[in-house]
Amino acid sequence: MELDLRDKVVVVTGAARGIGAVIAQRFAAEGAKVVAFDLAFPEPDPAGADADDAVEQVVCNVADPDSVQAAVDEVARRHRTIDVLVNNAGINVEGPVAEIEWARWKACFDVNVGGVFLVSKAVAPLMQAAGGGRIINAASFAAIVPSVASAAYAASKSAVVQLTRVLASELGPWDITVNAYAPGMVPTVMNGFAEMPAESQDRLLDTLSLRRWETPDDVANLLIFLASDAASYITGALLDVSGGKLSTQIPARAYGR
Ligand code: NAI
Repeated sequence: MELDLRDKVVVVTGAARGIGAVIAQRFAAEGAKVVAFDLAFPEPDPAGADADDAVEQVVCNVADPDSVQAAVDEVARRHRTIDVLVNNAGINVEGPVAEIEWARWKACFDVNVGGVFLVSKAVAPLMQAAGGGRIINAASFAAIVPSVASAAYAASKSAVVQLTRVLASELGPWDITVNAYAPGMVPTVMNGFAEMPAESQDRLLDTLSLRRWETPDDVANLLIFLASDAASYITGALLDVSGGKLSTQIPARAYGR
């Protein structure tokens, strides 16, 4: 089966680092024309061996309507259209409800839900004019089963799932598919999993059927499939890419733990 993404124009939000940066590089490796959106980008590697060379960069705050429209207009000017949009940008706001300040709660929704809303709204007309497209939204395992002190994040990611379903229905007539995906535990700056004491890491890994940390490539593999023709009949779905966090009650028993 060919997952041919050559010359597709792909926008990945929040792609300056973390999972988004790898998603962008992986689409570029498939031959796509990739544009990364982010608040800022690191200085280019002076050695010139920067793997991001194949990825164009556009500064964009996904929570700001003017910034989003300007960024999407810039991509349209450079590439005429956008075939695939990956709404990866997100922030984590942690804390019990009793302690979360309103401004932090709001920021979490502005970026995680507002960002998906604004960028999808700005990109959809290009896809409608082209008669097709793919929108792929970062939800989270937290949208399925939340943790203590994850009210803002988990609620925002649940909202992403419902927004995905509504967008799928509204954009279906133009052959635009809209899906969400739920990663489990990918060690990044956002969560600091890799820096936790070994015992805490073990406790978390014991919740997985595939007892290893998820990698950004595990996520990118799914997204490349979802962006391809092979996934043309999948829409409005939430794809679990958590390594089996939901598959059974005590997965560690299979490992004798
Ligand atoms: P990260 O914190 O390493 O990267 C997030 C990127 O989004 C950063 O480059 C940041 O600058 C950018 N960003 C934040 N606010 C922005 C804004 N207003 N406008 C534009 N860009 C903005 O996070 P990570 O871990 O790579 O997560 C990526 C996505 O995957 C997020 O949506 C996250 O919620 C989701 N996710 C991550 C999981 C994990 O285990 N790391 C698990 C489940 C979901």
